[in-house]
This record gives sequence, C-alpha cells and structure tokens, in this order.
Amino acid sequence: MTLTMETAATARALAEPTGAAYRIQPMTADDVAAVVAFMRRYPEVHFCEWEDETLLAQAVRRQWPPASFVCRDGDGTILGAVIAGSVGVRGTISHVAVAPEARRHGIASRMVRRSLAAFREGGIRRVFLFVVADAASGRAFWEAQGFRETQGESTLEADL
Ligand SMILES: CC(C)(COP(=O)(O)OP(=O)(O)OC[C@H]1O[C@@H](n2cnc3c(N)ncnc32)[C@H](O)[C@@H]1OP(=O)(O)O)[C@@H](O)C(=O)NCCC(=O)NCCS
Repeated sequence: MTLTMETAATARALAEPTGAAYRIQPMTADDVAAVVAFMRRYPEVHFCEWEDETLLAQAVRRQWPPASFVCRDGDGTILGAVIAGSVGVRGTISHVAVAPEARRHGIASRMVRRSLAAFREGGIRRVFLFVVADAASGRAFWEAQGFRETQGESTLEADL
C-alpha cells in the first residue's frame, strides 16, 4: 500500500520512538487474562468485580479498528495496557496503566493516541472516561491528553 504524506505522518506520530525497548500492539482476546491481572495490580485503576473477562474478550474480538492496546518489552513482559471501546457513537477509555518502572516515558500517551486514532478512523467524534475523584496523577495524565471535566452532567448508574 502507498501511504499518502498525511497518513505517513500520522503513522510516524503513532509509532514507537526509534530504538524504543517496547512494542505497542493491538490487544487480542488471548491477551485479556494477562491484561486484567496487570490492571488489578494497580489500585488507582479501580478494576471492578463486574468487569467480566469473557465479555471483555468478546468485545476485543469484535472491535474494528482495534482500540485497546498492550505494550510489551523485548521479553514479552507487559509494561502497559489501555482498554477502550465504544458505546453507541461515543468512545470510552475504561482503563490505562503502565508499570511503575516504565512510567514517564510517554508509553501511556502513545497507547492512548492509538486508541483515539482508532476511534477517529471508526467515525467516533467524542470520547468519555471516568477518573477516580482522589486520583491526582490519573487526572493530571488525562488533562495532559486534552481531556476536561464534563460540564453540567452527572453520571447515573445501576447494577443488573
Ligand atoms: C497514569 C499513568 C497511566 C501514566 O502513564 P505514563 O506512561 O507514565 O504516562 P506518560 O509518560 O505518557 O505521561 C504523559 C504526561 O501525563 C502527565 N502525567 C503522567 N503521570 C503523571 C503523574 N504521576 N503526575 C502528574 N502528571 C503526570 C504528564 O504531563 C506527562 O508528561 P511529562 O512526563 O512530559 O511531564 C501511570 O502513572 C499509571 O499507570 N498510574 C497508575 C494507574 C492509573 O492511575 N491509571 C489512570 C487511572 S484514571
């Protein structure tokens, strides 16, 4: 395939930096159990009991273009992951985490940029997410990605 100048520039912006010791790849259904175990290590992620692995694997299988990503080092150890999906015409990012030793190297930003690019490619124009109220670093991260608090709306929810 011949890339136009614009798509080549986008591809470069989304690629890992030259010489990076990690790879970011779309999450597959086979990755889900390991990603869930990874997310559960970090209390700030608030991975909930109701987040069913089988459902998550089904969602990952159905998703096109893929919006959830896993970052691994050269040995295949998970360094980070982002779980994203869509609800109707809105995109949502459920969780993002990076292993403490790999933080502040732009890994989460790169994964999130790839999720947002996938949403854009699929026609989605608005993305929402929840941040735990006392998670200052999570909030700072999302603000650095351009997310702002929703004005004039509250979240309502119910368990089924
Ligand atoms: C939040 C988290 C995913 C960030 O991952 P990361 O790979 O270190 O993030 P990046 O390197 O892409 O950071 C991008 C920018 O976000 C902001 N940021 C990231 N971590 C931050 C922190 N702890 N405090 C303040 N700002 C932060 C900075 O502006 C940073 O840019 P800079 O490093 O040039 O200053 C990671 O710290 C983490 O896994 N935390 C535990 C789980 C968590 O809180 N998840 C989010 C729940 S809402």
